[in-house]
Amino acid sequence: MTNISQTDPAVDAKRRAAVWAASQIEDGMKVGLGSGSTSALVIEEVGRRVAEGLKITAIATSEASQKQALELKIPMSDFAHLSKLDLTIDGADEVQEGTLYLIKGHGGALLREKIVATASKKLLIAVDPRKLVKTLGSVFALPVEIVPFGFETTMTRLRDLGFAPELRLKDDGKPYVTDGQHYIAHCALPQVGFDAMEAAEKLKATLGVVEHGLFLGMASRVVIGGPEGIQVLEAR
Ligand code: A5P
Repeated sequence: MTNISQTDPAVDAKRRAAVWAASQIEDGMKVGLGSGSTSALVIEEVGRRVAEGLKITAIATSEASQKQALELKIPMSDFAHLSKLDLTIDGADEVQEGTLYLIKGHGGALLREKIVATASKKLLIAVDPRKLVKTLGSVFALPVEIVPFGFETTMTRLRDLGFAPELRLKDDGKPYVTDGQHYIAHCALPQVGFDAMEAAEKLKATLGVVEHGLFLGMASRVVIGGPEGIQVLEAR
């Protein structure tokens, strides 16, 4: 389970967004459960509603979220049994104002998050206000999931494309390994003249890249928790 520090100044904002997002789930829905600290609050609230009688089936975007959901007795399934989900609720690292384009994956779960979001009719993103940005990449680097074999050569290809990749490492200095047994390269995005669609296409076409954390045109709504309530942004 993701640990949520009680001293995190954003935790109340995250919780407000998470509780509102979980309130959008209706009886009978098939639901995608995201990853990260905000999603952990969503799952907590979904668990509370399930204990009160809400009937849903869910698929998780990470082993950590799966474990938390099972502990809360949320009925879990998989894509062998469900082909389409009604709603996925997830967090994000950055949300671009206006476009609602996202950077996701700093929790290390971007591949499963994208698979689950793509299988969903709607993607609802729950964040605290620090996540709103004017330019993608202005606060966070872009996580790119890459194959471990020959990752040095993939990093070179990313560097040649101008992405300035750095391998994500654990505290012990070894590469971070995702649930899918891949590595993550954190790529700095150029802040002038950056074209997200073009970057997404280039990354998809790069040998050794499994998936990237640009979620473009995927979020249907973004709920932002604040000190006094929530704000909901709709995709145009
Ligand atoms: C997980 O891989 C990420 O995409 C998370 O959704 C993102 O990092 C947001 O995490 P927090 O809710 O912990 O900020």
